[in-house]
Amino acid sequence: MEIIDKLKKSFYDQFKEEAIELFFSPGRVNLIGEHTDYNGGHVFPCAISLGTYGAVSARTDNKVCCYSLNLPDIGVIKTDLTDIVSKKSNDWANYPLGVIKVFQDSGYEFAHGFNIAFYGNLPNGAGLSSSASIEMLTAMTLKTLFSLAIPTLEMVKLCQKAENQFVGMNCGILDQFAVGMGKKNHAMFLDCNTLKYRYVKLVLEGYSIVISNTNSKHSLVDSEYNMRRSQCEQALADIQTVRKVNSLGELTASDFAVVKKAIKDPVCAKRARHAVLENQRTIKAVEALENNNMQLFGQLMNESHISLRDDYEVTGKELDTLAEAAWKEKGVLGSRMTGGGFGGCTVSIVKNDCLDEFKHNVAEIYIAKIGYSPEFYVADIGEGTHVIK
Ligand code: GLA
Repeated sequence: MEIIDKLKKSFYDQFKEEAIELFFSPGRVNLIGEHTDYNGGHVFPCAISLGTYGAVSARTDNKVCCYSLNLPDIGVIKTDLTDIVSKKSNDWANYPLGVIKVFQDSGYEFAHGFNIAFYGNLPNGAGLSSSASIEMLTAMTLKTLFSLAIPTLEMVKLCQKAENQFVGMNCGILDQFAVGMGKKNHAMFLDCNTLKYRYVKLVLEGYSIVISNTNSKHSLVDSEYNMRRSQCEQALADIQTVRKVNSLGELTASDFAVVKKAIKDPVCAKRARHAVLENQRTIKAVEALENNNMQLFGQLMNESHISLRDDYEVTGKELDTLAEAAWKEKGVLGSRMTGGGFGGCTVSIVKNDCLDEFKHNVAEIYIAKIGYSPEFYVADIGEGTHVIK
């Protein structure tokens, strides 16, 4: 409750009135299925109990006033509801403002403005979807404040659109979906092609999901991301000259062995191989988990990391050091990078009895090689974006 009290107090200090609604929106960790979402494949994420808290009050004018307790120096960013445009001076507020704008463009009308304060406890830039968390919190605010009859999946799609069009990051649907649709102690098995999904109970008997943060900040993440995406599109276009197919996610491993010759550029071929095989691994991994075959699940996680390292080339020294150190540890079923890559976090399945040793040994190897400390969080799998009663 400490966080909520701090948020309420700061809200009052900024806006000189009490918040009328409080929200929570989680971060996410993807267990397997990386860079498959925009390739029409499967993902298997869960929502975590770290995330973003929001406090809101209605205004009588048509201003939207955004404040972040994480970035107090920036102060309140004030925008007219009738004049929302993406601009640098909006800074972090481009995330909430983008959501309002795509809602407006989809025909939702807001009769008045509001004040909103955000307070997040997700580590900054760690690839645990702090942006999707803020976006979905904003969508839930709009739904609640203006009594919109909008299903969660629709909010998820609009938030993805806001990130694509307003922020300029060409992301798939993984993050917004995981954040919005999360369910306590469950992961979501989502087919990004059809948006069909089901919840899979996480029964990890004696094991924990550990998130290890490289604490490394990388620039160019968005441009590298958009480049991977267009390389996959190029590979698909080449494949389409020899086979009728709508996405890389439609191909099995043996289909790919046949059609890969059509891909002209060898780099694009590697990217496509990752997308196809990662999708197949994700399907197998969920099956393994449901058959209680945790060993196989872990092994597929490791293979996923290797493919992201060698074929997709989105890991880098920090993520590789963490994953490779984890693989050597006692009680580790599997470990891999999670999210977009480059910096950010790994996710590992670690035996509860070995947690302390895991953290100690992995940190030691990481510090020796990278020069600073990683951070560890035992993930608590929680609910998607919701109103705090
Ligand atoms: C980022 C994107 C997601 C997804 C992952 C990689 O988190 O926002 O849409 O593509 O990278 O799996």
